[in-house]
This record gives sequence, structure tokens and C-alpha cells, in this order.
Amino acid sequence: MEPTTLTNTASITAARALTGTARMPGDKSISHRYAMLAALAEGTSEINFFSPSADCASTLACLGKLGVGIEHSTPTSGEPTSVVTVHGLGMSGLRAPTSDLDAGNSGSTIRMLSGILAAQPFLSVLVGDASLSRRPMQRVIDPLTRMGARFRSADGGRPPLEIEGGSLRAIRYELPVASAQVKSAVLLAGLFADGVTEVIEPAATRDHSEIAIEYLGAEVERQGRSTRVHGGARLKAQKLYVPGDFSSAAFFIAGALALPESNLVIQNVGLNPTRTALLDVLVPMGGRIKVLNLEMVNGEMIGDLHLEGSVLEGGQVPLEAVPGLIDELPMLAVLGTRMQQGLSFHGAAELRVKESDRLRAVAENLRRMGAEVEEWPDGLRVPGQQLLHGAEIDSFSDHRIAMAFAIGGLFADGPTTIRGSDCVEISFPGFFETLAGHLE
Ligand code: S3P
Repeated sequence: MEPTTLTNTASITAARALTGTARMPGDKSISHRYAMLAALAEGTSEINFFSPSADCASTLACLGKLGVGIEHSTPTSGEPTSVVTVHGLGMSGLRAPTSDLDAGNSGSTIRMLSGILAAQPFLSVLVGDASLSRRPMQRVIDPLTRMGARFRSADGGRPPLEIEGGSLRAIRYELPVASAQVKSAVLLAGLFADGVTEVIEPAATRDHSEIAIEYLGAEVERQGRSTRVHGGARLKAQKLYVPGDFSSAAFFIAGALALPESNLVIQNVGLNPTRTALLDVLVPMGGRIKVLNLEMVNGEMIGDLHLEGSVLEGGQVPLEAVPGLIDELPMLAVLGTRMQQGLSFHGAAELRVKESDRLRAVAENLRRMGAEVEEWPDGLRVPGQQLLHGAEIDSFSDHRIAMAFAIGGLFADGPTTIRGSDCVEISFPGFFETLAGHLE
């Protein structure tokens, strides 16, 4: 794996506590979906607390090139103030782009947009940055080709993707890997197909697409691991609110539990049960986490988290919990060094094809901090009760690696430097400032 080419750095020193009341940026996964569905809806949607992430900016830019009118207020760094207005074009209103659609670093953008573009009567080309250009797209090419779209890709089913869309037939598709992005791509294509499209998942993954499609007025039938949508759907514009991003909160959750004197509240965070497996793992281990003020906002659970410094038992993460905390595993592994028994998990080979090879990135950086760690093809074993030593960390240009080790630096015994720290902008602009505002 290439070291990061980003030259900026961030410095972290040890802290005693995370305190106060924090808010996270709008959820990245949900923001992508609201933008795409609002573009296909009839009328104007207002999306409040839209994610300020670079990934979601990529989605908006792609939609703009497809003829969608979008206005957005400039968010203050780290503050979830962004309102995005999307002038929907209806199911048949997208226009042929006159240049490549750039998904940047964003797997959600390229995969989910592929589902929509597969149904359009024009040719589009989706490109991405160096990291995205290494990631596997055959997983969307296969089902969307079966539905009738034509794809060309680079070797091994990598981007750029050239998509010749058209009329689609409904399919029944059993996902070979648990992936919400692939599930969503097929469901989005299914909204345009001639019949009922069914997706069966091997394990439950985040269901934001299903919730949002229903909220915008189309029918979704769900039974166990099966989800069905009807072709010829119509969507209606809505006023939408994006919950705070649970995957961003994960770093503050880990930091608060790890620092003994912490007393932190995170407000208005998304608590959809398909996203909160981290809590299901940490609470039985002794995590002092309380959920407060639960409510439902446009079909999504939202609430506050109260977190206090904790002694965590640790142990093995159950296999069935892994798909639900796939984005949180790097942070959980770093936190494992603080646990009594350490932490181990299998079933996470997918981490090798994220923005970086996250199993390797975590193992390598933990070793740089003087920790012992065992790397398996599909997981990690991190022994417990290890003191981390401040070190120079390589983010590998991966936002979740940068943030996981920034938190690790808070419980290390010397200064930690994160190389390529600017990559946090991918999901959490203002991460370091928000963190600094809650440190003691
Ligand atoms: C996402 C799904 C997950 C996750 C990614 C966002 C989504 O990826 O890792 O950060 O928005 O649907 P997979 O679909 O590849 O599991």
C-alpha cells in the first residue's frame, strides 16, 4: 500500500477527558441517498443538516452535471448548518452529461449512481481518484448488466466505468457480499425496471435507502433479508433532516470511553439500529453509554448519547455484528489496546477494499505506536492493556484511519503526528477543531 501523498499533518497529545456537548456533521450515507432520490423526485426538496463532507460534495457535483438544479449554503467548518435545496427532475428528467462524472474518493457515489445511470437513455462515464480507481466495481456491474445496462470498466472491474443505460428488466438478486452500496444500486435501478426487483442480503446492512425511498412515496416491501421495489415508481419532494453521523460519532464515543474522566454528550446523532452495532458491542463490555431523547425523524431514529470514561472488558466481536460496524472497526481495534482482554474480529475482509486496506493500515500504525497486533486475512487480534507510544502515523489518505489514530494519540504517552491529516475532509471537515473543543 502506498504511503499518503498528502503532506499536511496534525499533532495530538495525551488528554484526560472529552467533555461538553458535541454535534456531529450530517450523516454521509443518508445525505448521498437524499440528494440522489431528491434529484429523481417531482418538486423541490430541502435537505437540512446535509453532510459537509467532500464525498457528498462529489455526489452533488455529479447530479449537477446530470442537469439537476442544486443550491447549498456554505457550512461553517464542523458545524452541521448546511441546507441543500434540490430541484427534482422526476424519474425521466436527468440529462446526458457533457463530461465525466467525478465521484472523487466516494464509493457510495460511484456505486449508487451506477444504479441510476444504468436506467438512463444515454452514455455516462464515472471516474474517481487514485483510491477509488483501485476499488472493486464488478459487484455493481454484475447485477446491473443482468438488468440490461452495458458497462465498460478498467481491468478487474475497476473505475472508470462507462455506462450505456436504457430500459431495465427487474431481477431477483442474491448479494454475494453484504454491501449497502450494492443493495442500494440495485434497488435504485429497480425503481426504473419493468416489474418487481428483489435483493436478498447475506447479512443485514444499513437500510437508509429503503427508508428514504418509502419516505419519498414509493413502495418498498421488506421481509427478513429480502427487499422488493416496484418499477415505474414515482417519488415526491420532501423537507428532510439528516441525523448527525454515527460513524463520525464513533471516534468521539471511543475517545470518551477511553479517557477516564470523560463526560460527553453527543446530540442529534443517527441511531438507526443497522448502524449502531458499535454500541451493542461496547455496552456489554462495560461501556458507560446512555441513549437519551430518542425520536424518529423522516423515518430515521435520532437521539443523544451520554458517554463516560469506562473500563472495557474486550473480547471477540461476534461475526454477525461485523457488517453493522464495518466503518467503526478501525477505531474499535485501536480502542482494543485499552481493553482488559484486548479485541479480536474475523469476517472483515471487506476492510481490505475500502478507501485503504484498513486491516493493514491499522496493523502498521499500531506497530508504529509500539503495540503488538496480529493481522489475519479477514481480521485483527489486538492484545489488551497496551500503552501506546506517540509516533508518526500514516493516514494512507484514509479519513477513518486518520481519525482513529488521532483518538489513539489521546491515550498515548507522547506526541502523535498524523501524516496526511487533511483526508478527514472526506467525511468530517473540522474534525480536529471539533475534537480540540472537547478536550481536557
Ligand atoms: C456505505 C456502505 C458501506 C460503508 C460505506 C458507506 C453506504 O460500504 O463502508 O462507508 O453509504 O451505503 P459497503 O456497501 O461497501 O459495505
